Amino acid sequence: MSHKAAPRRQSPDKTNSDIGEVSRHLLKGEEEERRRISRELHDETGQALMVLRFQLEMLASEAKNAEQQARVEESLEVLDRTIEGLRRIIARLSPRVLEELGLLAAIRRQAQLLANQTGMKARLDLPAEIAPMNHDIEVAVYRSTQEALHNISKHSQARNFTVRLYVAGGKVQLEIEDDGAGISTKSDHEDGFGLTGMRERVVALCGTMTIHSRRGRGTQLRIVLPFIADESSARQTAIGARTARRVSTAKAS
Ligand SMILES: Nc1ncnc2c1ncn2[C@@H]1O[C@H](COP(=O)(O)OP(=O)(O)O)[C@@H](O)[C@H]1O
Ligand SMILES: [Mg+2]
Repeated sequence: MSHKAAPRRQSPDKTNSDIGEVSRHLLKGEEEERRRISRELHDETGQALMVLRFQLEMLASEAKNAEQQARVEESLEVLDRTIEGLRRIIARLSPRVLEELGLLAAIRRQAQLLANQTGMKARLDLPAEIAPMNHDIEVAVYRSTQEALHNISKHSQARNFTVRLYVAGGKVQLEIEDDGAGISTKSDHEDGFGLTGMRERVVALCGTMTIHSRRGRGTQLRIVLPFIADESSARQTAIGARTARRVSTAKAS
């Protein structure tokens, strides 16, 4: 009875950084899982649908009568819509688009897609170029943009939206705003999985997320993350600089 263990004391800093570490680890696992699923969908489901498409086309050309031909063509249309849907899912799942296009073009494409799908007017305020940054930070910026634009299309009924990104004072800042309906109640935006997930991701990377919204006055979302340079390219630059220095020393002597 007298041996009641005293609660172990832990400094809040340590606890927070441990939680941050665990969250970062989980997020990494989640991104890897998404990448794996998207690859499988692409390589297996996508390939199978393309084979099916090829066979249906053959059938269409061999159709014995107009009725048969019409039925096969109808199936082809359904299949094409399915393939298109699968492409969208793959693109949403995988931040491969980041590797292929880079962050700025990927954001531009997201905004363009939303504008085309909804008829909303997009305003983009992006730097002409951006220094290579740490992959986790880049993915967080991209995923947050994706979710915020998805929310605009789903909930805002806005006419205009703006995406602003800038790097200053060692920070990356992302602001996405719309002139739509606004988030009506406080509980609304605490219940949703999207915004909660976004906040968790940002906090795990030592960033902050704020939302300003008033009914009928649109919504403004702001994310601030530390700017961390991409280690691999920093190393490349350092190696490059060292080599250049060696070359110039050699020349000088
Ligand atoms: N841009 C926006 N305009 C209006 N309402 C929004 C906007 N973004 C979010 N919301 C509101 O906040 C809620 C929570 O959003 P979110 O966490 O992304 O969940 P979900 O999109 O799955 O509903 C939404 O259901 C919606 O009511
Ligand atoms: Mg959402």
